[in-house]
Amino acid sequence: MSIEKLGVLASGRGSNFQAILEHLELGILKAADVSVLITDNPDAQALEISDRFDVPHQIVNPQVKENKKEFEHEIHKIFDKHNVSLVIMAGFMRILSPFFLDKYEEKIMNIHPALLPSFKGLNAQEQALEYGVKVSGCTIHYASEEVDSGPIILQHPVPVRENDSVRSLADRILVFEHRMYSKAIQLHVDDRLEVIDGRVKIDYGDGWKEEWDEREKTFIEHQKKSWEKDEVFRGVWK
Ligand code: GRF
Repeated sequence: MSIEKLGVLASGRGSNFQAILEHLELGILKAADVSVLITDNPDAQALEISDRFDVPHQIVNPQVKENKKEFEHEIHKIFDKHNVSLVIMAGFMRILSPFFLDKYEEKIMNIHPALLPSFKGLNAQEQALEYGVKVSGCTIHYASEEVDSGPIILQHPVPVRENDSVRSLADRILVFEHRMYSKAIQLHVDDRLEVIDGRVKIDYGDGWKEEWDEREKTFIEHQKKSWEKDEVFRGVWK
């Protein structure tokens, strides 16, 4: 069986990156491996995570590059060297240009902390609270030229509570981001996704979903243990 080589792009905290690595470590996410992490931020916490999980990393500083194309060319060169076949944007704070997107057509995934097409761009959770929606959530999609656009792979709803702060809503959404990203990756790796006219068709046949849900129980347990002390997460688990 061939192994999908993941190349992760992250600019900050890297909790989604970590959740993917945990899924791999727990044997839930199969036939995949993270080959390299690239960040545009020398202070990204994601760098510590890559060290902890023994994943090679590289910092590509956009300021020292002449232009966006140079910057993306550098990223492509590194991914190529590591035989990356699927690009994972995990809190990457830059917009990729067609130059880069064309090299990985329907092979770049992004995660967004809202139910797209609502609340694109920065501060999605704050936008949701300000608008007063009663349900928000997260979306995993293939990347396209426009910010937070492209064929939607998975979404998960999260109810908005009357007393939610940006932090509490963001954290409750994060619980599901951490679960759903690996699921979307596994669907891609298992060749269960087909993009038809900009829409993603998912093949859940032969008990795929049941099998995934069974494996995912281990991650949910792990998540509960790591976070049960944090009061934001109390009551999330129903
Ligand atoms: C997540 O909420 C993700 O959806 C958004 O940026 C945040 C990144 O968090 N694109 P982390 O760096 O993965 O912890």
